[in-house]
Amino acid sequence: MIKKCLFPAAGYGTRFLPATKAMPKEMLPILTKPLIQYGVEEAMAAGMSTMAIVTGRGKRAIEDHFDVSYELEHQIQGTDKEKMLADIRDIIDSCTFSYTRQTEMRGLGHAILTGELLIGNEPFAVILADDLCVNDGAGVLEQMVKLYNEHQCSIVAIEEIDPSQTNKYGVIAGSEIAEGIYRVTTMVEKPSPADAPSNLAIIGRYILTPDIFDILRETAPGKGGEIQITDALMEQAKMGKVIAYKFRGKRYDCGSIDGYVQATVELYEKSKVK
Ligand code: UTP
Repeated sequence: MIKKCLFPAAGYGTRFLPATKAMPKEMLPILTKPLIQYGVEEAMAAGMSTMAIVTGRGKRAIEDHFDVSYELEHQIQGTDKEKMLADIRDIIDSCTFSYTRQTEMRGLGHAILTGELLIGNEPFAVILADDLCVNDGAGVLEQMVKLYNEHQCSIVAIEEIDPSQTNKYGVIAGSEIAEGIYRVTTMVEKPSPADAPSNLAIIGRYILTPDIFDILRETAPGKGGEIQITDALMEQAKMGKVIAYKFRGKRYDCGSIDGYVQATVELYEKSKVK
């Protein structure tokens, strides 16, 4: 059973400046919900109830969002607007939130290692909230949990990308053991198109086994001088312990302006059809 989901949310979000000067990127809304709330809802749908969030300076709005706001609740009590808080209230009632701070931006791998205290010695999920994933059926993390139950090893979600874009992602290669499911043999962080082993890119959803923490402790800074989760996962892949999964659904890169606008427009269109 995977009960905990880690949200590395310490990045500066420089692509959204000045909006992210005093507000975390994870609090940017798509329609009326902040990005991180979509992530928490996806984790809940996959059966998780402990949300562990790695934050940094200027991220207090995340903690306040997942807390009761008595004044506001009192103000709208008995009005039409009360139902607008129903989802977030349900989240607060059914989940536990814990936080820790990454004091230096030393990369995603380092952010995940910073979360070790909140996770402990058990397999866990990771969501990068700026990758917003939607699917009409089971959510992406729910699909990955099913796969974890079969394989009991680390799982990364992948999608096919335009080969010219490989320098923005971790890229994998491996043997396809079932349709859309690969046993990973190679992983490279942000390769140039000429050096990329495939066009299968890792997106912001992972299930990790806890031995990843020991590996991360030993992982030297890689691409960009940052401690890369891809490098640590490569150590597990050498032992045949990483599966890559072409998920069902659609991912929006809401860390970029284009992806953010596209998500906003498409979710808005969808909301009007309902
Ligand atoms: P990004 O590469 O999107 O970086 O990080 P960023 O700082 O958030 O955004 P830009 O590029 O400056 O606009 C991917 C994910 O890893 C987290 C980020 O919060 C984001 O969810 N991260 C990255 C950390 O938590 N700590 C780090 O040191 C680096």
